Amino acid sequence: MKVVSLHSDPDCLTLEWEDGGSTPLPAIWLRDHCQGAECRDPGNGQRLLNITQIPIDTRIAGAELHDGRLRVDFEPDGHHSEFQVDWLLEHCRDLEQQHDDRSERMKRLWRGDSFPGGLPHCSYELFRDGADHQRDALRAVRDYGFVLLDAVPCESGEVLRVIENFGYVRETNYGPLFEVRARIDANNLAYTNLGLGCHLDNPYRDPVPGLQLLHCLASSTDGGESVLQDGFLAASILREENLQHFEILSRQWINFRFRDADADLRSRVPFIEVDDRDNIIKVRFNNRSIDVIHLPPAQLAVFYPAYRHWAEILEREALQVEFKLEAGQLMLFDNTRVLHARRAYSATGTRHLQGAYSDLDGLYSRLNRLESSA
Ligand code: OGA
Ligand code: ZN
Repeated sequence: MKVVSLHSDPDCLTLEWEDGGSTPLPAIWLRDHCQGAECRDPGNGQRLLNITQIPIDTRIAGAELHDGRLRVDFEPDGHHSEFQVDWLLEHCRDLEQQHDDRSERMKRLWRGDSFPGGLPHCSYELFRDGADHQRDALRAVRDYGFVLLDAVPCESGEVLRVIENFGYVRETNYGPLFEVRARIDANNLAYTNLGLGCHLDNPYRDPVPGLQLLHCLASSTDGGESVLQDGFLAASILREENLQHFEILSRQWINFRFRDADADLRSRVPFIEVDDRDNIIKVRFNNRSIDVIHLPPAQLAVFYPAYRHWAEILEREALQVEFKLEAGQLMLFDNTRVLHARRAYSATGTRHLQGAYSDLDGLYSRLNRLESSA
């Protein structure tokens, strides 16, 4: 698309596009985004100048279009900038449009009956060896918050090799991976055969691991079914049912804590995090690791109904999908959005999962590369 005309005054340059749209660009913005070799490294595109080097009273002295390029002259520093019109079109057609791949706005929210054709899944062989399959599986993590991988070899440590396909292992005090099986003297209720209610892992870490993997190596017990639930949908239901409850849980921070013989991890964070436009971007809930709630009594009186309402929504079965992880299956999910739970299981038979964490930025980076090379 072409720029058909320019209107320039000292404070602002307005581009008129051939489809009738227009883009006003303030003088200081244009000066700051100069694409010339003095202001941007020509090799890596990174900014060389600092905002403090730009005079606060920067004005446009003149502007002209020539051959798909825009030239702008500035006062008082006498700088000349050049912009490719194609660059302007790609990056600043609409300055109100924010990059956003995390908030509820960009997600496909789901409930228990949202997958009549089956849950998003992919064979591990295709995920590992086929870029298109891997792209689709990672898109499922971005859009729905989870994907199941089938036929992952039942070998100890394989969960770490799965992560190498898209990112990096986030090691913790549990080690690079953790063994989920019933044991005596468990330092965490996850390592018993008790049921676990819907939760997100490790809200006591800063930052919280953005991705969790659970790889099933053995599953011959009765029970032990897995449950997943969309925490963004749950938070949006809370907002719909009681805006005040939503606001209390997004503004009031609370403490989470995990303590054993070697670690004492503590955080102070909200149950629901919103971005600068009040869109949900992260949720937290973990009944096992909420620390002592320190609030003045008057605040407790408003906090508890909101907290209870949130927990009650997270128990609604209509919002949950339930399935049994079979040996060789792995679930990969966004630990800032999708809650997981486990039903209690029998003392007879064997159930053994290996879990590991990774971070969302690596996965999104991999997905962005796969999408731009498609
Ligand atoms: C966990 C957990 C679920 C399961 O270890 O974080 O929630 O299915 N385990 O055992
Ligand atoms: Zn868990």
